[in-house]
Amino acid sequence: MHSFHYREGKLHCEDVDLARVAQEFGTPLYVYSAGTILDHYSRLDAAFAAGRIRPSGGLAPLDHLICYAVKANSNRAILSLFAKEGAGFDIVSGGELFRVLAAGGDPAKCTFAGVGKSREEIEYALEQRVYSFNVESEAELDYIDQIAASKGARAPVALRVNPDVDVTTHEYISTGRSENKFGIALDHAAAVYERAAKMPNIDIVGVQMHIGSQIIETRPFVDAIKKVAPLVRELKSKYGIKFFSVGGGVGIVYESSFVSGSSGWWKEEGPARHQLSIQQYVDAILPPLREAKLRILLEPGRLLVGNAGVLLTRVRYLKQTGQKKFAIVDAGMNDLIRPALYHSYHEIVPLRESQRGGERDKIDIVGPVCETGDFFARDREMPELRESDLLAIMSAGAYGFVMASNYNSRALPGEALVRGDKFALIRKRQTNKDLIRGEFDAAL
Ligand code: LLP
Repeated sequence: MHSFHYREGKLHCEDVDLARVAQEFGTPLYVYSAGTILDHYSRLDAAFAAGRIRPSGGLAPLDHLICYAVKANSNRAILSLFAKEGAGFDIVSGGELFRVLAAGGDPAKCTFAGVGKSREEIEYALEQRVYSFNVESEAELDYIDQIAASKGARAPVALRVNPDVDVTTHEYISTGRSENKFGIALDHAAAVYERAAKMPNIDIVGVQMHIGSQIIETRPFVDAIKKVAPLVRELKSKYGIKFFSVGGGVGIVYESSFVSGSSGWWKEEGPARHQLSIQQYVDAILPPLREAKLRILLEPGRLLVGNAGVLLTRVRYLKQTGQKKFAIVDAGMNDLIRPALYHSYHEIVPLRESQRGGERDKIDIVGPVCETGDFFARDREMPELRESDLLAIMSAGAYGFVMASNYNSRALPGEALVRGDKFALIRKRQTNKDLIRGEFDAAL
């Protein structure tokens, strides 16, 4: 479900006309729907809380904590939405921890992941008393033990195990295979836990896994949970671990997220469009998880925010070269790198619906950056576009702004949040002065 729809021919986010937001804050601009984010969060939370209670059966709700994967979208205003819901956070750097705290998040609900934590980051996380360090190697475990000792602290630790399952997703975002850099091999994990148990400043608190991102089938999640389950049982009886974190990775619809209908345009759900619904995901993973009889942690990122954001951009020029037509827009690969980096598909729609009718033409939608890879769509069938038309690049709420850069010395775009009929700027567009802030003439 998302809250982007046409009303009287104008693309709205919740009850706000997106053209007004573009007018007020300029383009390129990320716009997020608070309602969509909260809806996704509460549906996931409710599906878990309800467990699989059926009128006939009496299963108890499952103790769980949703740790939003901050890397997907780390704007303070977004984090604050989750913090107010009582969510936990999956963080991967000291910077993310800092952001979570600034947004009012609870460090005691933070899990700190990542293969290359620095001394400063480990010290900071110890001081803030995070819920768990998700440890990715023996070297890191030794290092955390040492640092905890030097601070007279104890470090709560879960090992990230690598279940070595096959996942159909882009190779850059598949993480659960043995050839990836992530985690500790499943058959070696028990031995590492044994070492950890002997370390004076380590508390074993859980076990974690994450198999990849943008996964649109339940099988790999279930396979991975089943593969790790015997270890989970062993750890529970030997060390009394408190939680089993199943990571994130649930995919969303990027393609055809709108379908035409009498009442306008809405988001299509269901297997026909390869979406894994929240309920399908929970229904699939709950039975094997119930057996663990442990607190379950989830680390969704994209699922919660992906379809909740769009990147608004304006057509600057139209251009024809040979057989090809181009619309050059004011957003570039520096603003949204996913198409260039993963060849990922993002639906692109005009803000004025009337433009959708009539002839459709194949066109490349490209940015102003000096690279051939700077495209958002290639040979995309679009309604006729005109210069200065506004477009929305859909499903840009996850891994959009957070992966933006200043390449070509382009200022980072602004970000806005919509809630009901209100909207507000949640990040100012950078200025040229911002571009050189912190740079010095070396005067050598
Ligand atoms: N937990 C861990 C340990 C992770 O590494 C990740 C994502 C997540 C949770 C959240 O995964 P999600 O639920 O969002 O799939 N930039 C790429 C995605 C990289 C994902 C990295 N890890 C993209 O734009 O598709």
